[in-house]
Amino acid sequence: HFLNVVIKNNINLDGYGACEGTLTCSTCHLIFKQEDYDKLPEEPEGEEVDMLELARDVTDTSRLGCQVC
Ligand code: FES
Repeated sequence: HFLNVVIKNNINLDGYGACEGTLTCSTCHLIFKQEDYDKLPEEPEGEEVDMLELARDVTDTSRLGCQVC
């Protein structure tokens, strides 16, 4: 699942997940297709939203990979 997203969006994996899922970086930013985003189990909230705002090129279907994969 996760790897499909990365390949589809051509995300550079260098430095991915620098904080190891503790929501203190934004290197795991993923941009989902709308249809995939809709399948995610939960909406981003709290710290994930805060950290997403710091990510580059955030979109309406952005999530932090460490929180959804
Ligand atoms: Fe750092 Fe996800 S790995 S916020």
